[in-house]
Amino acid sequence: MLTGAGISAESGIKTFRDADGLWEDHRIEDVATYDAWVRNSDLVMEFYNQRRKQLYEVIPNAAHYALVKLESKFDVYIITQNVDDLHERAGSKNILHLHGELKKARSTVDPNLVYPIEGWELKKGNLCQKGSQLRPHIVWFGEPVPAIIDATSLAQEADILLVIGTSMLVYPAAGLINYVHDRAPKYYIDPKATPMNYVRNLKVLNETAGKAVPSLVEELLNNNL
Ligand code: OAD
Repeated sequence: MLTGAGISAESGIKTFRDADGLWEDHRIEDVATYDAWVRNSDLVMEFYNQRRKQLYEVIPNAAHYALVKLESKFDVYIITQNVDDLHERAGSKNILHLHGELKKARSTVDPNLVYPIEGWELKKGNLCQKGSQLRPHIVWFGEPVPAIIDATSLAQEADILLVIGTSMLVYPAAGLINYVHDRAPKYYIDPKATPMNYVRNLKVLNETAGKAVPSLVEELLNNNL
């Protein structure tokens, strides 16, 4: 399973590329790059504080919950590009966050030091145990994606792939589909699915996640596919 911003859209979280190239009124390079952090850490910290605050106001939707049901019959592994925790709150067990997690902070001197954020606010002066400022635990543009190694192994082992609510434009995440076996059935649920004619055994469902995921899950559980 590979999920993106579209699966959380019906919970009320905006996607990245659906709104004029701006993300919550900001240019991506002003808030989601390491350079932005160096130039203006206050702005970047506040931007993610607002995203985190919003997370406390939204709840999982029918698509998140349907994926939990799938676990009654399948070993389900969710690779998500989302930094929200809606898969966790719905109850899914195996979740790999490729691009980090909003509710965590990490050290600016040692990337292995990761901490939960209490409440919604990360502040100047919140330090890691080595004394450096904490930053949002987010993979910014241009930064390495350490979880891609485990994600690639999962993709290679998959018997079925569901791709839900992602423009499939951001790499290395989008490249994961190429590691899934040609024979494995693949479903791509997105009202504006990006064409991927090079992928074998791909069925595209141009529908919203809230509508299409629950019915696809029922069909998979009932073996109708
Ligand atoms: P995008 O904003 O690029 O794409 C969201 C996709 O969701 C689009 O293809 C929409 O058509 C689709 N969509 C919108 N509403 C939907 C709904 N109700 N049901 C299903 N699909 C819907 O978001 P991502 O592909 O997740 O990275 O973006 C990938 C990465 O780029 C993000 O993780 C983020 C971003 O910049 C970082 O922040 C590092």
